[in-house]
Amino acid sequence: MNIRPAHVEDLAGMQACNLQNLPENYTMKYYLYHALTWPSLSYVAEDAKGRVVGYILAKMDEDAEEGDEPHGHVTSISVLRSYRRLGIAKKLMVQSQESMAAIYKAAYVSLHVRKSNRAALGLYRDTLGFSVHDIEKKYYADGEDAYAMRLALK
Ligand code: ACO
Repeated sequence: MNIRPAHVEDLAGMQACNLQNLPENYTMKYYLYHALTWPSLSYVAEDAKGRVVGYILAKMDEDAEEGDEPHGHVTSISVLRSYRRLGIAKKLMVQSQESMAAIYKAAYVSLHVRKSNRAALGLYRDTLGFSVHDIEKKYYADGEDAYAMRLALK
């Protein structure tokens, strides 16, 4: 499996992967905004034929107030079902986190996850060391709460 920075030509494959895996979907304009603004924070995993089988869409936080430390944010990550439990999501997360710290001096990375998402919680909390910073009630369109999670980057 090859993991590499996402290019504009990958965005349609990333969007297709997202549509298969998650109910939180985004316009092509939003993918493009990520890729053009923070070109080193989003990555794809591709199979031998160059098809996108997993992606991470990430950015730097833009709502930071004067004096706040810069921090990264994972907008979305997913891996096609038949490619799961191979360590792909972990690699995508680590690559993006390393770039957030090295290029943008991010002090930490944040994300939201459904309280019921056992696989993603396993990845974030158990494998990567994230902790729950806050609970955002009814964060999702269907009314489910989100854990707002954070991981300090050194
Ligand atoms: N149950 C429990 N723990 C899991 C599971 C699972 N189903 N899947 C992964 N983990 C944990 C394990 O600790 C695993 O390590 P191990 O395999 O050595 O036990 C660790 O995460 C790393 O797993 P990876 O193989 O790197 O994860 P994978 O490539 O399978 O992708 C992901 C995980 C992205 C959550 C995948 O299941 C998926 O695409 N799910 C649907 C989309 C989704 O929920 N995305 C996250 C939404 S939140 C957001 O986007 C910010």
